[in-house]
Amino acid sequence: MAEEIFVSPRKHGRIAILLSGRGSNFMKIHDAVLEGRIDAEISLVFSNKEDAPGLLIARERGLETLFLNPKLFPDRDEYDREIVREVRKRGADLICLAGYMKVLTPAFCNAFRNRIVNIHPALLPSFPGLHVQQKAIDWGVRFSGCTVHFVAAEVDMGPIVLQAAVPVLPGDTEETLAARILVEEHKIYPEAVSLYFQGRLEVRGRRVYIREGAEGRTP
Ligand code: GRF
Repeated sequence: MAEEIFVSPRKHGRIAILLSGRGSNFMKIHDAVLEGRIDAEISLVFSNKEDAPGLLIARERGLETLFLNPKLFPDRDEYDREIVREVRKRGADLICLAGYMKVLTPAFCNAFRNRIVNIHPALLPSFPGLHVQQKAIDWGVRFSGCTVHFVAAEVDMGPIVLQAAVPVLPGDTEETLAARILVEEHKIYPEAVSLYFQGRLEVRGRRVYIREGAEGRTP
């Protein structure tokens, strides 16, 4: 069977952000949009948490926000179906998970194939899941870091776009390591989104190739 190849679109795009918490990665993406480093606009900031600080910041920044209460939906499938509808209404080309603490249903992932990215605070495929900074310390790894990856139905396992490594230092706590990793998250997440809309991300199977700028033009 021929290998499926996806090339990200070179266009002025629309981004939907999904978050559950403080939203620092969302802010860095928005800053990059405002500074013209990402050729896109943010058409929706969505949260499953009404009081997520990131949602309040988005409102202050004049962006369209939406909260949907998961408790008002019979199950995850119905909830995710509604989010898909809302995201589609805004014409989003790319969904950026930015500390979104709900696992997406397979139907959601399939509805936006190659169009969902996530930031994870570890060097995947090591340490998927939660509390990964503490896990990295407990394992005694010398380096950890962060990963921007496409989202596939298997949690934290989609094709890797960018990674950055940081040392794990003696005496690190979950907090100190998380803070060191976050500095790198704030660099590579906007960079990955920028590459996406430059048409420079080519996905072949599990691997993502970053095309040279000049060759990045898609027809
Ligand atoms: C980050 O550490 C990110 O890697 C993880 O959730 C955290 C979100 O932080 N997925 P913030 O809300 O972007 O500040």
